[in-house]
Amino acid sequence: MDIKESYAVVTGASQGLGKAFAENLAKKKINLILVSLPGQHLKELTRELEIHYHIKAHYYEVDLSVNENVMKLTAWLNESFDVHILINNAGLGGTKKFTEATSDYINTILQVNVTATSLITHQLLPNLLRQPKAYILNVSSMAAFSPIGFKTVYPASKTFIHSFSRGLHEELKGTNVFVSVVNPGAMKTNTDVCKRIEKQGFLGKLTLLNPDKVASRCIQQLFKKDSVIMVNPISWLVMKVLPIWIKLPLMTQAIKREIEA
Ligand SMILES: NC(=O)c1ccc[n+]([C@@H]2O[C@H](COP(=O)([O-])OP(=O)(O)OC[C@H]3O[C@@H](n4cnc5c(N)ncnc54)[C@H](OP(=O)(O)O)[C@@H]3O)[C@@H](O)[C@H]2O)c1
Repeated sequence: MDIKESYAVVTGASQGLGKAFAENLAKKKINLILVSLPGQHLKELTRELEIHYHIKAHYYEVDLSVNENVMKLTAWLNESFDVHILINNAGLGGTKKFTEATSDYINTILQVNVTATSLITHQLLPNLLRQPKAYILNVSSMAAFSPIGFKTVYPASKTFIHSFSRGLHEELKGTNVFVSVVNPGAMKTNTDVCKRIEKQGFLGKLTLLNPDKVASRCIQQLFKKDSVIMVNPISWLVMKVLPIWIKLPLMTQAIKREIEA
């Protein structure tokens, strides 16, 4: 495949883990299409990556919480580009008493994390299937492995992404499209996440990851066709070994500190 004429799509690419994915792929001379909300300096980042790494890069500013926008984005991608990598990274969560959450808060998490991930994958799949070799990486979370009070919607949405990715991986076996999922623990990305992690105390800090290292490991493992990418195996083991009656109250207690502090 002439990789120069094919593109990787990264959602949520303006900052945090998404930006780290974009930089890592650019270093590997992979052309990019960066997607995120408007007003986040995506144009500047795109030009910077083009100039610095001598790749082709484009950007698309969009609110992925609106289905119509997702369909317009994917139509534009399918009309204009051959896509051989899709990284569904855009995602958001938060910590709140469920009774104090607005319907907007709940809807945005579900639309971006669950619906946009599924729809983008669905709409781009014919494009990916046309390429000699193609990859999908979905960003879930360690939160996928346990329900957590005061987060409620976010862990459930990440459990969806994990399950969705495993199912699609199995379904696409024997095709040219490889599907993978990563479940990172806490990363110091945006300021909101940093503040929240600090309030979680020991448990939060224990699992803290560097987004550049996570991105680099993910890309390496994706190309090695690792279907479930481990970035913090110790936390993963703890989550797997602990029975739900221990981990659910333990995690909930740790998270509750975020809204109490
Ligand atoms: N940070 C952690 O501790 C952690 C742990 C486990 C998993 N994760 C997952 O890793 C992924 C990246 O997280 P991060 O910490 O890097 O978050 P971040 O710094 O907040 O970045 C999230 C990205 O998603 C984009 N995004 C959010 N809402 C959007 C919307 N409605 N439409 C379009 N784009 C939207 C943001 O765009 P703008 O920049 O335009 O706002 C941003 O580029 C997420 O899926 C998250 O759930 C994070």
